[in-house]
Amino acid sequence: MSNMITEKNHTGLVEGKVALVTGAGAGIGRATALKFAEEGAKVIVTNRSEQNGLETLNLIKDAGGEASFIKLDISKEEDIKAAVKFAIDTYGRLDCAVNNAGLEQERTAPLDQITEEEWDKLIGIDLKGVFLSVKYETRAMLENGGGSIVNIASIIGIRVPNPGFGAYCTAKAAVIHMTKVAAIDYAKTDKGTIRVNCIAPGTIMTRMLQRVADESPALIDQLKATTPMRRIGEPVELADPCVWLCSDRASYITGQVIAVDGGTTV
Ligand SMILES: NC(=O)c1ccc[n+]([C@@H]2O[C@H](COP(=O)([O-])OP(=O)(O)OC[C@H]3O[C@@H](n4cnc5c(N)ncnc54)[C@H](O)[C@@H]3O)[C@@H](O)[C@H]2O)c1
Repeated sequence: MSNMITEKNHTGLVEGKVALVTGAGAGIGRATALKFAEEGAKVIVTNRSEQNGLETLNLIKDAGGEASFIKLDISKEEDIKAAVKFAIDTYGRLDCAVNNAGLEQERTAPLDQITEEEWDKLIGIDLKGVFLSVKYETRAMLENGGGSIVNIASIIGIRVPNPGFGAYCTAKAAVIHMTKVAAIDYAKTDKGTIRVNCIAPGTIMTRMLQRVADESPALIDQLKATTPMRRIGEPVELADPCVWLCSDRASYITGQVIAVDGGTTV
């Protein structure tokens, strides 16, 4: 992906909007933050690792975009509350949010072998983190008449292709359902409309996938073989639909789950 914002690649899809991306220090979140900036948004880059978050911030600034960084751990209510407050204090409003921060299941195991500590850690980030994000983002968006949220789930929240991913599958399935709940809660309120949609990535080449591959080396070949396009997706292939769903071009779409997966779930 070219990292220079030029007239050619800038369509102004989200011109002037304020967008917050969680887990924007790497992978899908970084690509999405860059795409928001490329399309004219002011971006709040949030991430648990400060170093990675600042790298994304610098990539946006070097490309001529407008952005700020705030460190947060998505599983902590005070952190997400502070990040949303930062958006309002800095830019006066919040229009778009992509709740992307997530953790893979560090160890594959059937449910009876998953410890309470492993379960709580994963659910705390991948499910509670999305709930906390939606909670504070919606409050802020309603203060300025509405907005649009995209939650990042996974196709393994839709169907379970491999054994041993119980906590991760459960969290992602719940994110899909929470998206639908939020879409209905905020479809029409007396303060405005917030559209809430979900993207379910298939197999995407990021550090997360690399860590899963390190745990189960044969998995990458298996994933390619079971993907109709026979290839692994790139983060930018998620960034485009995320930004488009947040834009006014998607104005009548809410509560939907779009699988970006090379045809795997067809
Ligand atoms: N890569 C894939 O194949 C794939 C497939 C399906 C779903 N997903 C989902 O896409 C999202 C992004 O995944 P990725 O592959 O880009 O991962 P990644 O590991 O490359 O990047 C995740 C980013 O989130 C940050 N992060 C992790 N925990 C955090 C926390 N508690 N608070 C704040 N930031 C935190 C990390 O520091 C990192 O910058 C995740 O929700 C993941 O579950 C990825």
